[in-house]
Amino acid sequence: MLKGKHIILGISGGIAAYKSVYLLRLFIKAGAEVQVVITPNGKEFITPVTLSALSGKPVISEFFTANSGEWHSHVDLGLWADAMVIAPATASTIAKMANGVADNMLVTTYLSAKAPVFVCPAMDLDMMAHPSTQRNISLLRSYGNHIIDAATGELASHLTGKGRMQEPEEILRQVDETLERLSAETASLTGKRVMITAGPTHEPIDPVRFIGNSSSGKMGVALAREAARRGAEVTLIAGPLSVPAPEHPHIKMLNVTTAREMLDACTHSFPEADIAIMAAAVADYAPAQVADRKIKREENGIERIELVKNPDIAATLCAGKRPDQKVVGFALETDHEHEHAVAKLRRKGLDAIVLNSLRDKGAGFGTDTNKISMIFADGSEQFFPLKSKEEVAADILDAISK
Ligand code: C5P
Repeated sequence: MLKGKHIILGISGGIAAYKSVYLLRLFIKAGAEVQVVITPNGKEFITPVTLSALSGKPVISEFFTANSGEWHSHVDLGLWADAMVIAPATASTIAKMANGVADNMLVTTYLSAKAPVFVCPAMDLDMMAHPSTQRNISLLRSYGNHIIDAATGELASHLTGKGRMQEPEEILRQVDETLERLSAETASLTGKRVMITAGPTHEPIDPVRFIGNSSSGKMGVALAREAARRGAEVTLIAGPLSVPAPEHPHIKMLNVTTAREMLDACTHSFPEADIAIMAAAVADYAPAQVADRKIKREENGIERIELVKNPDIAATLCAGKRPDQKVVGFALETDHEHEHAVAKLRRKGLDAIVLNSLRDKGAGFGTDTNKISMIFADGSEQFFPLKSKEEVAADILDAISK
């Protein structure tokens, strides 16, 4: 898989930089073409002469070559690459990558790279454990970067501990495997139309108040991005999101506020869709009347708000579903999870339901991670470990494309 691949190896200034020489040799041995980009600090640990001798290419460190004035185009380099591997990635480089501080060639190239990015953190334990570093790593994950660390494995934690750089053989293996998987996935949804609902709905009481819930929309947005990455034409029907809307040429966003509006947008889009994924947390009820001016606190009669039941969007779509269409729902449960999820699947007429339990740490609203299982119409069930919402999105799409 690595044969003929273009790899940018980014080296920042950590003691683990000596291992990057070995990693470079492994990439070359596997048949890859490697361009090394090193930070000014990296050069304190390892000499560019060694790296250029092994890679057969001049090492890039500065924006210009000092004597000739030749400009190194990070944009061209970013487009040339099939993968970018940053090893070692120091706390400072990770922070710069997470926040777009492009004051060296490595981070500048990273920001222009269109290919998958692999980040191999290396720093001492305290730096690794600091909330700032943890937050930056989680930001990199949310951008879709692949983090290769040495935190897993019993041996690692006994001998050297979390924070040391992963061994070159293992980095090579993970890069190879991930590129293999990504190329199989890319285009797996080409020609398909996927409709996704996301976020909460807000049901107005008066011009300033509403009934809603704390769904952020993260899961639905991650699903939209992943489906688009796999080649689908995506329609994302979103209530008021508390995460940035995805920007992708193949994602069409339809913004709605209430469950009624979401139903209208869905019934309009659904006939075109091959797959519908209902990830929105739709409010179950809406106020029967919406006051046209702000209700005063002193007013009588607002202790009780009369509510009407909202339409069940998923059930409505399933009632008119063609045999070639698939509808997937979500169930967020706090007790008797399996039982409730199966009942929901049957009642609404879904093809599959994604179950997450609020009892699981790291699952549910607003978190970056999720732990799910999927139940299918034929009664079979598939369990998944705790993962980032991006990885969960990939699992869900894998399962329903089968
Ligand atoms: O019944 P419950 O709200 O738990 O069902 C959750 C599933 O049904 C989710 O997939 C959600 O998007 C969908 N749903 C819907 N319309 C509603 C309520 C839920 O589409 N009014």
